[in-house]
Amino acid sequence: MYRAGQEEIDEVSKVILSKQWFLIGDPSSGHLQEVARFEKEWAAKIGVEHALLLTSGTAGLVCALAACGIGPGDEVIVPAYTWMATATSVLSVGAIPVLAEVDETLGLDPADLERKLSPATRAVIPVHMSGRPANLEGILTITRKHGLKVIEDCCQSDGGSYKGRRTGSWGDAGVFSFNHFKIISAGGEGGCLVTHDRPIYERAMIYHDSGSVFRPSARGLTEPIYVAQQYRANEVMAAIVRVQAERMDGILADLRRHRAALAEAIAGAGGVREAPSNDREGDCGVMLTLQFKEEAAARAFARAPGVQGMVLIDHGKHVYTEWTPLREKRSAHHPDMNPFLFARNKGLRMDYSDKACPRTLEILRRTAYVPVNPDWTEKELKEKQAALRTAAQGL
Ligand SMILES: Cc1ncc(COP(=O)(O)O)c(C=O)c1O
Repeated sequence: MYRAGQEEIDEVSKVILSKQWFLIGDPSSGHLQEVARFEKEWAAKIGVEHALLLTSGTAGLVCALAACGIGPGDEVIVPAYTWMATATSVLSVGAIPVLAEVDETLGLDPADLERKLSPATRAVIPVHMSGRPANLEGILTITRKHGLKVIEDCCQSDGGSYKGRRTGSWGDAGVFSFNHFKIISAGGEGGCLVTHDRPIYERAMIYHDSGSVFRPSARGLTEPIYVAQQYRANEVMAAIVRVQAERMDGILADLRRHRAALAEAIAGAGGVREAPSNDREGDCGVMLTLQFKEEAAARAFARAPGVQGMVLIDHGKHVYTEWTPLREKRSAHHPDMNPFLFARNKGLRMDYSDKACPRTLEILRRTAYVPVNPDWTEKELKEKQAALRTAAQGL
């Protein structure tokens, strides 16, 4: 979250004083309908039919997988570079995540996706990491040929776009995160599932509301009800994220302008380049992503004075080799609920070893992020540009 102020305070105050904090309520008794209003506004902004505000992005991924009917016996392909929740959400519905390499854009590599297909593959989760759009055209060409579901993980790309359309509107479903560290936030946590598909929306609706159908937007539901989880948002979260969503395009414009200015500072330098992009205009601009010939150069650059960069192999649980519970095949609180041990999953691919995706690890070792701030003053931007220029000259 980059920006917040009086507008959030004002809208939250109204909800608090209404004393109607639950997402359902009668407008004639003063209920402000914040969740319903956010869902309508976000669906329109992203360009989809339906949106569901949820407690987190992880909840959104689980709802999307459940809504797509994914379960035991199914493989879901996920990139080897993403926050661990992309893979753990697959285990939450009893299916098995299969790793595929990312390419130099840091998105899922369509060629490796194709290599990793098996008769058990049912779905793919491309991730728009650090706001950088994945190669959706390449991925969708393959998934359409094989009849696979696509759930876009947009948790790091609130408001990003690909070829002129917002990310999240390309797949069968898209999932956003509004936790504290994202472009916009619903008050520290939050998420949203979007889809064009009415049955997916209905099944996700059932899943997020404990298998009940109390919400007015659930009227006319045709999908059968099943027992599920409680991932509902509340009116306070929605009041905050509605204001945040209004700020979003301004934040993105400033992030993109500042990232472009930083890229200019290293343009033409030998030994470093901006990582290739599937859509530079649509990239959210939260990071300047730089690639080097080797790890030592990436490290020297990242720690050069004033750069404050990070080499991606150090990105903690975004790197699959740090996904300890998966590597140790402990994916539930009880062994009988551990999908790695299910009879239906016997014979599915479960390789999370260092050898599973060596190309991803090689790319991450020589790639660095420089975080971008949309609120830098012109002086601060110039200082950052100067630091990058000096670091690039020193390579
Ligand atoms: C790529 C990705 N997927 C999923 C998530 C999960 O989102 P949340 O923290 O809202 O559950 C995150 C959050 O960091 C993420 O970065």
